[in-house]
Amino acid sequence: MITSTIEFINSKIKETLGEYIPEIGIILGSGLGELADEYCDLAIPYSEIPGFETSTVSGHKGRLVFAKINGKNVVMMQGRFHYYEGHSMQKVVYPVKVMKKLGVKTLIVTNAAGGVNPAFNPSDLMIITDHINLMGANPLMGENDDSFGERFPDMTEAYTPELVELTKKIASKLSIDLQEGVYLGMSGPSYETPAEIRMARAIGADAVGMSTVPEAIVASWTKMKLIGISCICNSAAGVSSAVLSHEDVIHAANIAKDRFKILVKEIIRNL
Ligand code: HPA
Repeated sequence: MITSTIEFINSKIKETLGEYIPEIGIILGSGLGELADEYCDLAIPYSEIPGFETSTVSGHKGRLVFAKINGKNVVMMQGRFHYYEGHSMQKVVYPVKVMKKLGVKTLIVTNAAGGVNPAFNPSDLMIITDHINLMGANPLMGENDDSFGERFPDMTEAYTPELVELTKKIASKLSIDLQEGVYLGMSGPSYETPAEIRMARAIGADAVGMSTVPEAIVASWTKMKLIGISCICNSAAGVSSAVLSHEDVIHAANIAKDRFKILVKEIIRNL
């Protein structure tokens, strides 16, 4: 299957861009997809790509976008597949495997998340230093494909420490406040209960969301370098007295998106 996906994408690339190998991959989270509107040399809707699912979440467009940004060849997922949509873990991470096969060496995974750390405010950006997987599944379950990685991959440095440092340095140079912390992946789609968020805090989480963990595991498994950035869109359940809504999440992402784009573009320049 993956061979026909790669052949299809490469034929589209050849038609429009000629010789082109994307070295950086970006997964754009809820409300953060604008980068792929600003920079777009070629866009392929997921519905046309063999092996891809169709994303259903509002705020997600559902296309693979190729563009040169600050001198680097980039492939962006404008919209991702979530486990809570009912997709299998295999389908959720399929595009990451495709990016690997296309030549991507560094993956930037982004998301909208709830702030578990009480010091975080809506629209803060957070560099992910590590994650906790409470999604109830792992994308590497099943037969191992040795051509991608080993059966029991180490996750000690899944989020590439040098790139965490690089991101912090760039943010500071740009005077962008950057939080850092541990991302907890839950399946969703219901937001967490206050009791679950107290547990999240107790086990060391700073932010909580419904994505990123599967893609990060596969990126690390395939030996891609990895950067994770969360946009803290709300205080997680019980952290403040507010009730949670998807509209508020998108609103907070909107406030953060310009800062987010500036940061990501500068990271790309420095990779
Ligand atoms: N919990 C889980 N996922 C989220 C949240 C949240 O509070 N905010 C945005 N995505």
